[in-house]
Amino acid sequence: MTEHRDTKIEYVNGQNGHEQNGHEQNGHEQNGQGPHGKGTNGQNGYHKIAAEAPAPADPAAANAADENKRYAQIIGWGYHVPAKIITNKDLEQIVDTTDEWIRSRTGIEERHVAADPQETTATLGIAAARKALAVADVHPSKIDLVICATSSPEHIFPATASIIQDAIGATNAGAFDLSAACSGFVYALSMARGHILAGDAEYVLVIGAETLSRIVDWTDRNTCVLFGDGAGAVLVAASNVPGGIMAVELGSDGSGADLLTVPAGGSAHPASLETVGSGSHYIKMDGKAVFRFATRVMAQATTRVLARSGLTIDDVDLIVPHQANIRIIQNSVLNQLKIPQDKVWINLQRYGNTSTASIPIALCEAIEAGKVQPGNNLVFVGFGGGLTWGACAIKWSVPIGKESASWWKNYRRQATYQAAAARSMWKRAVRWVYEVWPADPENVPVHQPENPAAPAPEPTKQN
Ligand code: ACO
Repeated sequence: MTEHRDTKIEYVNGQNGHEQNGHEQNGHEQNGQGPHGKGTNGQNGYHKIAAEAPAPADPAAANAADENKRYAQIIGWGYHVPAKIITNKDLEQIVDTTDEWIRSRTGIEERHVAADPQETTATLGIAAARKALAVADVHPSKIDLVICATSSPEHIFPATASIIQDAIGATNAGAFDLSAACSGFVYALSMARGHILAGDAEYVLVIGAETLSRIVDWTDRNTCVLFGDGAGAVLVAASNVPGGIMAVELGSDGSGADLLTVPAGGSAHPASLETVGSGSHYIKMDGKAVFRFATRVMAQATTRVLARSGLTIDDVDLIVPHQANIRIIQNSVLNQLKIPQDKVWINLQRYGNTSTASIPIALCEAIEAGKVQPGNNLVFVGFGGGLTWGACAIKWSVPIGKESASWWKNYRRQATYQAAAARSMWKRAVRWVYEVWPADPENVPVHQPENPAAPAPEPTKQN
């Protein structure tokens, strides 16, 4: 991920400071003041956060203990949903269902659907990612890693994350998709935290993006009423401000793989006339079994992640659960854990189940509604196909900023994205030229050292 850069992590006076070399070529900010540089914030090269969390009881002791620690903080957030809304009444025209049944059995009233063929998982993800970068006010060239959690990727490969990386101009980032069905966003946050705490990344863009409407059987009332399209993104940054993503709990039980699956289109059942004819490339689900599993693991995962982060249920300010079914949230979070409803963010009535996008979309709405403040303890908890489940505990430590309204910053951001599009087109054009005038790859001129007797240079150690 970072091997193309001339960046190295060094322990300076026992501190994990980043030293800069050659960032000019890589588009990073210079003067040793960039986010990777030791000069940033005067604090070992972490993202600058004006911490508004309540001061610890003994600030001096806390500072001494935390001076050298890295934390993974969510510093930007954004979401995007397609304009087209399909209501339960609309579904009554398509399948044998009723608004009353859908509301009472799921809580869902409407969902957004990517009706325009130009809208894809990547375009939704790109829009959400750009909003998250605007809130964080971070240039895309600073991102080290783009992770896109999705159950409806653009292709089996390439990764949707790579398409997003190209479109936002994250020229120094690695990119990959993460497949853990609806638990994917929590899994991706866990990956982001791991890369940051290990010192491998300073900024990780985590996206949950879906166009499930493209893999739903619109003649199957058991599934088509449940899902919606959308994307949410967060930017996770290295920080020395205590807090952020404090603990993670992940789980999987593959014995339930067949309970929620898209049977065909992979290597087990490659796409064929037969698979298409039988509709095996659509979502199939045993709703009752998934329901039972979900209510059990949502409560369990929440309890475990709280224990891991040293918190109790009473310490929780807000739970952001996967938005699949109001009854699952009621049975697990409200009834089993006895968490009051005003501490649980629920928006599935307007979006349906957007799989990996449901938690980040709900987080963004909770932030907009003023339900997230510095010092708050948050839990994200989800479940999905696999079967998988995941929870993470977050001590929110950053001020709730808004997307910068300054015309200059907006203009600069637009210019950055236009430059990214131009760069991408240029690279495609160069490849096209190579196609038209193919060079013999065996005949590439080999660079000869000026002094053949000189010893080969030592390989540079890169992180
Ligand atoms: N409209 C009217 N009737 C319906 C509909 C519908 N849309 N869907 C099902 N029914 C019928 C069934 O056919 C059944 O009829 P029958 O008794 O004549 O056979 C009846 O309603 C009851 O069906 P149940 O399965 O008992 O309904 P239930 O109360 O379990 O609700 C539901 C079904 C909503 C699917 C629920 O089981 C559920 O939410 N399960 C979890 C689904 C989930 O969260 N999936 C996560 C996906 S995440 C991911 O990884 C992509």
